[in-house]
Amino acid sequence: MTAPIMDTYALSAEARTLERSVMRELLKRATAPGVISLAGGLPDSALLPASEIAECAAAVLRRDGGAALQYRPMFEPLRAWIADHMRQRGVDVDAKDIYITNGNQQGLTILSRLFLSPGDLAVTGAYTFTGVRQVTQGRGARVIGVPVEADGVDLGALEAAFAQRPSLAVLIPSYQNPLGVTLSDDKRRAAAQLAARYRVPLVEDDPYSMLAFDGTPPAPIKAYDEGWVFYLGSFSKMLAPGLRLGWIVAPPALGTRIVTLRESIDLESSTLIQRTVHEYLSRELLPGHLRRLNAANRDRCAAMMDALNAHFSGLADWTRPTGGLFSWLTLHDESADTMSRLPDAIEQHGVAYVPGSAFSVDGRGSNTVRLNFSACTSDQIREGVARLRDVFA
Ligand SMILES: Cc1ncc(COP(=O)(O)O)c(C=O)c1O
Repeated sequence: MTAPIMDTYALSAEARTLERSVMRELLKRATAPGVISLAGGLPDSALLPASEIAECAAAVLRRDGGAALQYRPMFEPLRAWIADHMRQRGVDVDAKDIYITNGNQQGLTILSRLFLSPGDLAVTGAYTFTGVRQVTQGRGARVIGVPVEADGVDLGALEAAFAQRPSLAVLIPSYQNPLGVTLSDDKRRAAAQLAARYRVPLVEDDPYSMLAFDGTPPAPIKAYDEGWVFYLGSFSKMLAPGLRLGWIVAPPALGTRIVTLRESIDLESSTLIQRTVHEYLSRELLPGHLRRLNAANRDRCAAMMDALNAHFSGLADWTRPTGGLFSWLTLHDESADTMSRLPDAIEQHGVAYVPGSAFSVDGRGSNTVRLNFSACTSDQIREGVARLRDVFA
């Protein structure tokens, strides 16, 4: 018999603390034939622009040859495109303030390593993306989870948490994962002011804004910045997750440290992917893609809302997103345990979801569920929600 890994190897504090993402474990079980998965956090693969990306990659390789396959510093035209995109969203930045990453998860890793040491205090939403939990709790931080309301984080609780002088705060302002709610403009302004008043580095983790159903993304918290907001943007949800490309907006004073931390992880982002994405953007293919994607997501969300009305009225409350990928279901029966029901849901009822407690910083939320509406067709969503009703009947 093999000894448990902890007895064999002396693991680092971080490796001992990190929990395997529950979502990834679940996604494996949810792919069995016949199972309708409302568990993922993915766009529908059928809606991803594979042939356009293929053409752009081929054009880049024809044009740039071996240079597209080299080690290279960040691709300046891509930084310039992103700076322009941010300016259109009300953020006063220059290309030199943009640091290319391999997606927002890497941005979270870099900024948490920049500001947060094990044992420090961090502030997040009481329910937050598991990747945020990994770079805070997973790195040995003590975390204050701030309640999130229908219009985003509770400002009184945020201020009380900031008064304890945390080393880092992370908010997901738009179509929040997992709750599907969006921070109001007034609260965005107030959050930026609070960060400056209490001198708390506030990370704005924003992969979802461009998934506004009506095509109008909210202004970032960074648009109201008084010097303490660090913005993370990503092409994962607005274009394709497998490209692994995103960016940090940070002041040049921190540039050397950000670049050095980044180098210690994986040197730099793929030259070929940066140039391919830039080619795609300069051909102005993104607006059409977003229109198609958001129209599909809007219809699928509407199908989910109708199905929830039909099957869960009187049994649960749920959020009504105006963009993004998720709705959040709270069963009225507080003794319900969505985590322990999950194996049965998948194996007996053929439906998968993510139990809300997986996102909870303090283990609460056993009667909650995160539902995804982007990865299935509307018919599958209707059937999936009907099956979900049987699970909790
Ligand atoms: C809130 C949030 N932040 C970050 C990420 C990771 O994004 P990326 O693919 O850009 O690393 C996700 C992915 O689901 C997310 O939901």
